[in-house]
Amino acid sequence: PKEAEEAHYRPNYHFTPKANWMNDPNGLFYADGVYHQYFQYWPYGNLWGPMHWGHATSKDLVTWEEQPIALYPDRFGYIFSGSAVYDVNNTSGFGKDGKIPAIAVFTYHDPVKAKAGKTDVESQGIAYSLDNGLTWTKYDEGNPVLKNPGIRDFRDPKVSWDWQHNQWVMIVAAKDRAQLYASANLKDWKFLSEFEEKVTPHGVWECPDFFPLTVKGSKEVKWVLVQSYNPGGVNGGSGTQYFIGDFDGTTFTVDKTYAERFAKEKGIWLDYGHDNYAGVTWGNSPNEREKKYMTAWMINLNYGFDQPTTIWRGMNSVVKELELIKDKNGYRLSIAPVESLKKYIASTETVKKLSVNKTATLPTGTLDLAKSEINLDLKGLKDGAYTFTLSNKDGESLKFGLDNTNKVFFIDRSQSSKGTMFENRTADPAKMPLFSAQKEVSLKILLDKTSIEIFYNNGERLMTEIFFPNNPFTTLTVDGPGTFSIENLVMHQFDFKK
Ligand code: FRU
Repeated sequence: PKEAEEAHYRPNYHFTPKANWMNDPNGLFYADGVYHQYFQYWPYGNLWGPMHWGHATSKDLVTWEEQPIALYPDRFGYIFSGSAVYDVNNTSGFGKDGKIPAIAVFTYHDPVKAKAGKTDVESQGIAYSLDNGLTWTKYDEGNPVLKNPGIRDFRDPKVSWDWQHNQWVMIVAAKDRAQLYASANLKDWKFLSEFEEKVTPHGVWECPDFFPLTVKGSKEVKWVLVQSYNPGGVNGGSGTQYFIGDFDGTTFTVDKTYAERFAKEKGIWLDYGHDNYAGVTWGNSPNEREKKYMTAWMINLNYGFDQPTTIWRGMNSVVKELELIKDKNGYRLSIAPVESLKKYIASTETVKKLSVNKTATLPTGTLDLAKSEINLDLKGLKDGAYTFTLSNKDGESLKFGLDNTNKVFFIDRSQSSKGTMFENRTADPAKMPLFSAQKEVSLKILLDKTSIEIFYNNGERLMTEIFFPNNPFTTLTVDGPGTFSIENLVMHQFDFKK
């Protein structure tokens, strides 16, 4: 059964720990050609437990090498989510002999106080590393560097270098909102302001992010604020939204046009599927003023524990590139799979145009769909639904497509995971509102054994779903209400062994 589990469910290119439980990505930073990723980790079982930071490294954000555990719980509590920065100017003073310190900023969660029903359960601590993130020393003399302000849920500090105002800025989830703090040395933190979102009813904020980005093709700088929360997600359970606005060094103000759009659309989501949570960005990555890299935990908190794997449990999304776009509708993010994924393309099939009358099987040939990228444009769309179906010999299927009658893009995995513990979690299709009927759309679809990530209209929006089929999907068909065409069909086969 262990071999079967590895064969069926171990993703081909989505990060999973070799063994045991993983949740949120933590401490994402880049230094000297290496991308570091830490993660919420329980090393002694496949369910959530007292949290550690696991660690993995990558040269290209696609293939990862797992490293020894980075942070262990201590007398202040478990090590919850947080971030890491590369303190190039040694503002913290932890640097020694010319070695640049990496500083991890994380939440201490005190289980004893939690059990006793106390309020000051969560506070923020730091640790430093002088070997580029392999081993860490906790700042015992000064921890916690940010004490609990009287809010039970006070966690997941994300620190970024604010190159507009020359300060470190921390965003931290504080119950149903976020707080901003600033520091010159990563040890002393000063409260700046709060940010609260009042449009969508929501539960507790977790894993926020806050960073400046340059608008593509200009010199204009805007700030992006990312909030994950649970419940209240676009498809129920957990979800992640983002805001674009300005930061004056103290207060974040949402751009007016963006706020109007946000209210009209009842939230602007980083992902319109079920399974993209707690996503955060890398710090200090190349070109980070123009482009940020992000990864997330591919899950919905409605069913975090119900994935039918036992050796490991938890997987990451593909790493995405975020850029800031300004178009006729205002500001938005553009989301694309990390560029270096292209290095792993082993072969490509191209079909210029496929005319479809009601139904067609896509010429996927010998393509192993569980490590593929499929790009296509749907054209000539009218009223009705255009449904793609991935299927296998066991009669399992995964459906996705555009429904012009109901004005949604959907992913329906209700028939995808038969007989597994995940099956009873698959009933509700994920729906992304389209607001108007579409004449054409362009899709980039990333497939792995247990996930689909659809980049809609060149990264305008994103949809992520996980599933657990008993056997790989081998066929891809499409159905529509009449005649339409699939154009610029480009199918890539990945090979991650090379
Ligand atoms: C999000 C979260 C964080 C917390 C961590 C604990 O999934 O609940 O808010 O820091 O997981 O593992």
